[in-house]
Amino acid sequence: MKIAIGSDHAGFALKESVKKHLEEVGGFELADLGTYDTKSCHYPVFAEAVANAVASGEAQFGILCCGTGIGMSMCANKVKGIRAAAVSDCFTAEATRMHNDANVLCMGERTLGPGLANRIVDLFLHTSFEGGRHQTRVDMMMALENK
Ligand code: RB5
Repeated sequence: MKIAIGSDHAGFALKESVKKHLEEVGGFELADLGTYDTKSCHYPVFAEAVANAVASGEAQFGILCCGTGIGMSMCANKVKGIRAAAVSDCFTAEATRMHNDANVLCMGERTLGPGLANRIVDLFLHTSFEGGRHQTRVDMMMALENK
């Protein structure tokens, strides 16, 4: 499974810790689209890069880290085909896959410890979309892009 991952300076340490976790777990091909240090930068740049990788099919899922996860999710959701969720608990990590078919996970380094973030990542990547009535709603959600 290919995963595109990115952060701004405020999410850099969390991105590195998630990368290390996924490398230890194994089975993932990671494309790190930056940023590559803690120098102040602009989160929309990295949100767009990761969102484009997912929207084009180059990556199956995206992971974005910033201070809160919120700015990244707002930006990623501007890209057609993206369903990004800012997640800070385990229940929501599963629910957004099961019900929303989320394809980008956004997390905040200032709101999450690395242990909880790793658990959220595992749940997000291993939970399947339930389809059925949720597919109808996801189709309606995506139709909003063309209105
Ligand atoms: C950077 O200071 C911070 O605003 C950014 O990482 C993010 O939290 C925005 O939503």
